[in-house]
Amino acid sequence: MPRIAYVNGRYIPHHAATVHIEDRGLQFADSVYEVVALMDGYLADEEGHLDRLERSLAELKMAMPLPRRSLRIAMREMIRRNRARNGALYMQVTRGAAPRDFKFPKGVRPTLVMTLRNATFDISARKKEAKKVMTAPDIRWRRRDIKTTGLLAQALAKQAALDAGVSDAWLVDDEGFVTEASSSNAWIVDAKGNLVTRPTRNNSILKGVTRSALQALCAEEGVRIVERAFTVAEARKAKEAFMSSAVALIVPVSHIDGKMIGNGKIGPVTEKIFDLYLQYAQGHRRQRKWNPR
Ligand code: PDD
Repeated sequence: MPRIAYVNGRYIPHHAATVHIEDRGLQFADSVYEVVALMDGYLADEEGHLDRLERSLAELKMAMPLPRRSLRIAMREMIRRNRARNGALYMQVTRGAAPRDFKFPKGVRPTLVMTLRNATFDISARKKEAKKVMTAPDIRWRRRDIKTTGLLAQALAKQAALDAGVSDAWLVDDEGFVTEASSSNAWIVDAKGNLVTRPTRNNSILKGVTRSALQALCAEEGVRIVERAFTVAEARKAKEAFMSSAVALIVPVSHIDGKMIGNGKIGPVTEKIFDLYLQYAQGHRRQRKWNPR
């Protein structure tokens, strides 16, 4: 069964799927993307991801490449043609291909590509695998709210973490506060037992679809979330720490900069959040709208 990719309305064997060398995604990272988890055939938080895609495109002065209904059909067709049950659906929209010039080209069709990667969601293994992270300066641009493919700073941070023998990097702003992880949002349970995550104002982080779902779920379950920035020193002293993102789901953190968090294993709040999110991502709870503000 060949792996199938989608390129501008066509379903093509993955190895043969290409875009133009002057695509603005390649030339300028003039492009945005989404990653949606496919869990037992269910696209987790699909509408939330499409809402954010539309919002990211609007920030780039672009419209959705297809009506949402057609996009949903194409996403399902990708699942069908790949005979996928579990994995990650990647979608990218660029401003299109045009001779290299900084100004926006006129009359150019956007490029829409999709790929699907199989993945397993072995939840008990994931709960057991608490990850070590280090902190690193956040050297990104100031519009981290837009999910662009300009991910070099994140790739550098991730590689630096791997080179240092840990799994990921928590990025730190100029004032010493954690922004987020290289490709997920960062959370701690502070000394007072509060579940804390950084606010999204000032566009200093990506407003995670998973993060928004957790906010709604916690509100329903009476778990209070305190939205405030926290320092590296505070993170190192946290009772619990975890990361959230679409396909990684909830990732417990065992060490920050070599300092063990709790007993180095998933903590009770993190486990509760994990279970709540799983029910939601598997479609057992009402899906929430992603709130762009
Ligand atoms: N990354 N922050 C950053 C910088 C991210 O790249 C991501 C997601 C998130 C979490 O967003 P969400 O909950 O909507 O997945 C936060 C994706 C998964 C990626 O780049 O592969």
